[in-house]
Parts: sequence; C-alpha cells; structure tokens
Amino acid sequence: MSSLEKSGPLLPGGTVGVLGGGQLGRMLTIVARRMGYRVVSWVGGPDHGPAGMADVVIEEPFDSESGLHQFLEEADVATVEFENIPRDLLERVAEAIPLHPGAEAIAVCQHREREKAFLSLNEFPCAPFWIVDSAGTLAEALAQLPANGGILKTAEFGYDGKGQLPVTSDMDAAETWEKFDAPRAVLEEKIDLGGELSVLVVRDQRGALVTYDPVENFHRDHILDISIVPARLDSAILEQGREIAVGIAEALDYVGILAVEFFLSADGTLLVNEMAPRPHNSGHHTIDACETSQFEQQLRAIAGLPIGSPRLHSPTVMLNLLGDVWVDNDQCPDWSGILQIPGAALHLYGKHEARRARKMGHITFTAPTQGEALAGHKKGRALLGIPEFE
Ligand SMILES: Nc1ncnc2c1ncn2[C@@H]1O[C@H](COP(=O)(O)OP(=O)(O)O)[C@@H](O)[C@H]1O
Ligand SMILES: [Mg+2]
Repeated sequence: MSSLEKSGPLLPGGTVGVLGGGQLGRMLTIVARRMGYRVVSWVGGPDHGPAGMADVVIEEPFDSESGLHQFLEEADVATVEFENIPRDLLERVAEAIPLHPGAEAIAVCQHREREKAFLSLNEFPCAPFWIVDSAGTLAEALAQLPANGGILKTAEFGYDGKGQLPVTSDMDAAETWEKFDAPRAVLEEKIDLGGELSVLVVRDQRGALVTYDPVENFHRDHILDISIVPARLDSAILEQGREIAVGIAEALDYVGILAVEFFLSADGTLLVNEMAPRPHNSGHHTIDACETSQFEQQLRAIAGLPIGSPRLHSPTVMLNLLGDVWVDNDQCPDWSGILQIPGAALHLYGKHEARRARKMGHITFTAPTQGEALAGHKKGRALLGIPEFE
C-alpha cells in the first residue's frame, strides 16, 4: 500500500509534479487544471512551449539539486510524461513523495535491454533479439539473423525511430558498430508486418484495471501517422492483445496508464514491440472519442481517485501533425478547411518552432460510423498535403 493510499487521495487543490516537458505533460496538465489541481512541470531544459500550461515550470537540468529541491517543495505526487528520466532521479523522487508509475516499472520501460529481459522472463511474446555491446557480439548476432534482416536499436533514449538502424547479416560488424556509436544495443529480427496495434491499460492504486479498445496503428518513416479505433483486426487477436497488456501491467505492479505496442506478423502472430510508461500517442483519440481520456486516467490513478470508463463513444481516426506541414517551418497551415470537417478536433502543442518530423499536434476525426471517420481523415490529410495513406 502506498503512502498516498494510507493518507487518502490527493484532492483538487493539491499539486501534481510532472517530470518531462513535452505534449504528453501538456495534455495531462490541461486535465489536471480542469479538475482543480496545480501542476509543476520539471522540463530538464529550456521549455520549448508545451510546458507553458503548468503553474510552475522548472527548467534546471535533471541532475540539479536545486531543481529537485524545488520540485519536491511544490509537488504532492509525481509522474512522468517521458520515460528517459534518469533512474537515480526517479528513485530520489520516490523516496520523498509518491511516484506513479514506480521507479522500477519506468526503469524497465526506459531501457530496451531490461524491457526484453522482463518480457522473456515473464514469457510475453516478442521478436527474437540479441543483446549487443561490442563489434564482436554484433558479429555473432548478425550471423544468426534470418534473411529478412534486423533492426539495431540503442538500449536507451530512442524514440520515433531515432537510434535505429536496419541491418542485414552480410554487413561488416566492426564498421556498423562504430557507425552506430552507442554503448549498448538490442538487435531485433525484422518482422514481416501484417499490422501494428497498441493497447492502453490503466491500473489504480488498489490494482483495479481497465483497458481501452485496441488501436490499429500505421507508421510512416518509423513515426506514428494515424491510429484507427475500433481496430479492423481479428477479434481474437485484439482480445489476446488486451490479455497481454493486462498481464504486463500486473507483472510490473503498475499504477497509471501504460501503453503496450504490438507487432502483428504477416502470419498472424502477435508480438510485444515495446511499452511506454505514460500516456501514448496512440491514445490521443481518447480525449475526443472516449468517456475518460488517457490523461484523465493518469491523473486519477496518480491522485488515488477511482479510474473512469474507457468506453469508446465514437469511431475515430487520429492523424499526427508533424512539422513537415508547416510552411517554411514557422508558419502554421490554414486550418479553415480542417475546421469545416464535421467531427474534426484540432490539438496543437504550443511548440515555438516547427521542424521536420517533429510532432506539433494532432487531429482527431470522430463520426457516427467508421467509414465517415476514415473519410473525414482522408479529406483532412489531402487538405494538408500529407501523402495518401493505404
Ligand atoms: N523488429 C521490427 N520489425 C519490423 N518493424 C519494426 C521493427 N522494429 C521497429 N519497427 C518499425 O518501426 C517503428 C518504431 O519502432 P519502435 O521500436 O516502436 O521505436 P520507437 O521507440 O521509435 O517507437 C515500429 O512501430 C515499426 O513500424
Ligand atoms: Mg514505438
């Protein structure tokens, strides 16, 4: 039982501490403020826009003692909106105030090697992999790689496909390892994909748990492009995805919202890709299309309040807006056409500067039927000049 549970829930008026300064923290802050909480965001560097919604923004680096002191002075409970928070900082925060999810669960999800070890130990299915920490171990792994090749991924700090390199068994290991330039990595077999999905699960401090409807995801250049709910995949696969996500949340003794990303191989096998110990891009539709958003669930879980219904009330398609659609990288598109599409909800993250591949916002298209949601999305992406999908 956490200290929070012993002392009862954190009620509105209390202060939620958020580690990280991106859009996930911003959307959590919007909900927290709507529900009467204060928010302190520790960004760990200059705020580039999204954290501006918090009551207090701390820009000092994550190894700053005065930053930690201020964060702990302000916050009653803490959470992360970004998994790459140094583990020792997570542990120090958790010694002082309740941190949800716990430091250990975040540590597992922030490091691909620990994540793979956790999945294997608990017998959750994942792609065949090899741990690589030298040219020699890479050579051994490459020799075992099947013909379709693999993807070399840094153990830490990867996101949106960064820190990843497609490899094949005929590549020179010494040269590749030098070029890759990371202390540790995981080499994963490249899966012949039949699809990708994710399952969001919320677990409260008493172990009560709900899952959202599984989400069908499509990536472009390794970055999430769109998410479709309900997923148009076999219902037995979706049920299996939910069961695995629940099993992972329980095995991690998780509190808060957890996203589990899956590969569905072309032959119909479901494999866990990775976990995110925070709200997730593929859960943004929950703001406009579900009874309780993923951000509100995170707030409720960390505050010790009952979690809400995850019920989907409208079919939906979520389209990511990358900096690529900004004119000359600083002028935002004219949204007039988008705003005339029935059921289109525009979300922008307040980032000061647009850059190629940078997530600037998203649009959720909800409609009475899935066909209409897909059609609205198609129209929206054409208006913005985003290459066609499917
Ligand atoms: N082993 C793999 N086989 C096939 N596709 C992959 C593999 N690993 C990654 N990808 C593709 O790249 C995307 C991003 O990779 P992921 O490991 O989820 O990293 P990130 O941390 O950037 O989200 C995946 O969603 C998938 O589309
Ligand atoms: Mg991913």
